[in-house]
Order: sequence, then C-alpha cells, then structure tokens
Amino acid sequence: MLITHSIADLRQALAPYHRPAFVPTMGNLHDGHIALVRQAKPLGDVTVASIFVNRLQFLPHEDFDSYPRTWEADCAQLQAAGCDVLFAPREADLYPQPQTFKVHPDPQLADMLEGHFRPGFFVGVSTVVMKLFACVLGATGGTAVFGKKDYQQLMVIRHMVRQFALPIEIVAGETCRAADGLALSSRNGYLSPQERQEAVALSQALQRLAQQWRNAAPSDRSLLETLALDALRTRGWAPDYLTVRRRADLQPATAEDAAGTLVALGAARLGSTRLIDNLEF
Ligand code: PAF
Repeated sequence: MLITHSIADLRQALAPYHRPAFVPTMGNLHDGHIALVRQAKPLGDVTVASIFVNRLQFLPHEDFDSYPRTWEADCAQLQAAGCDVLFAPREADLYPQPQTFKVHPDPQLADMLEGHFRPGFFVGVSTVVMKLFACVLGATGGTAVFGKKDYQQLMVIRHMVRQFALPIEIVAGETCRAADGLALSSRNGYLSPQERQEAVALSQALQRLAQQWRNAAPSDRSLLETLALDALRTRGWAPDYLTVRRRADLQPATAEDAAGTLVALGAARLGSTRLIDNLEF
C-alpha cells in the first residue's frame, strides 16, 4: 500500500488509473470501515482510502483533540484489506489556508436530526468530502463508498454529488454490528465496560420503534417516538432524537408511507459518549 500525504503525491500515484474507488475515513478504523474498503475493491481499478480527522466538522466542545488517532493499526488493517493507496493529508496539506469557501448543504436535509444537534456539522462534512473528492477523484471521477451507519451523511453526500453533477457514483455500505447488535463506531471505544453492555439498547429501541410503527394505527404513531425517548431516558440515556422518517428525503413519515420506504433514526448520549444508529424498515 502506498501512503501519500500531499495532494501532489496522491495525484501522481493515481495518474495511471482511470476509475478509483474511494473510502474516506477519519481513521480509528474498525471492521465497518474495512468492510467498506472490501466493498470498494471490485468497483474501481485502484482502491483508495483517506484518513483525515476533519476539524471543520467538530463543534468547539466536541472531541476533535481527543478523537482516537491509531495510525499504525489503521495502516495494518487497510493493507490487509487490499487498499492500494492511503491518502493521509496533514492539516496543512488539506487546509493550507483557512478554508473560507465552504459547501452549504440544503438546510431542508442538513439542518434537522444530526444537523440540528450539531449545527455546522454537515457544512464541515460536505466541505471536506468535496475537497477529498477533488483530490482523489477530481481527474477521473469514480466511485465513493459511504456507510449507512451515518445515514443522513450518506444522503447529504448523495445530494451534493447530484446537485454539483460530480462524475462520482456514491455506493452505500451496510452497517456492521457487534454480536449483540451494537453498530460499530469509532466512538464505541469511549464506552466503559458497563456502558458497552448497555449500548445495545439504542439499536433495540430502534427495532422496537420500527415494529410498533408497523403495527400501530396511523393516529397512534405520533406517540411512539415520545414513548421510545422516555424508555431510553429511564435507562439513563440522554436521547437527542428517536424518529421514523421517509428514506427518500428524511422528512417525517406519514400514514401514506409504506413499510419498506422508512428508516428509524436515533442519537443518544450514554454517559459522555454520543451514539447514533438507524434501521431501515
Ligand atoms: O464519516 C466519516 O468518517 C467522516 O464524516 C468523513 C466522511 C470521512 C468526512 O470527514
């Protein structure tokens, strides 16, 4: 695996290729990331991953400084997964000047859910992803693989690519889960052993919400989200949202929306760790 830090070196490394398949990450890789790399491999003539902890998508009080940096282990995992090129820019490579030009996604999509609780998050994500796309896929176009675990992020990126007519195909990767059902996430590493045992309650809450939604009369559905939030609070969580949305635009589901077109999404804090998850149904 070739490791590049500067944009110039990356472009030189990719010059012989016609269709890169790209997996952007912030490092601290787990099996979920590695599954995305394996999924990307047959989709291009060269497989590229990036590791860049993007300051722009962290709020001032969030964990940018303490975000786990696990360089050696990340490189070993990428190499074993068959990644060909790792792009790991330093901050000065990607943001040599303050990044004053930014991508502002459609507020209809980006100001709710994650964007409501983490204002500016999707501006930071869209801006860095646009820039990473320019570095990795700018000369050729290609494919980029994003996990469904960050469901709203995937939707925002899909819309960005469509609206800017970028020659990039966005492919979704399924969420990887631990044996008990907890969605794999870099932030799971923050959980104490006791919290780790409890953490599966988020995905269970989403499963229950989806099941109740399917079985309930439309007039009773509005109550279900409140009940789900209360149930998590009783277990000691501080939930931001647990909600059923239309997959197509993430707007609140209505009585007309059929099963098979919906997604239950949740975000909640357990101790000091904020977890997110979702379930299509
Ligand atoms: O999902 C992530 O890890 C990040 O949001 C991404 C897409 C790499 C942008 O920094």
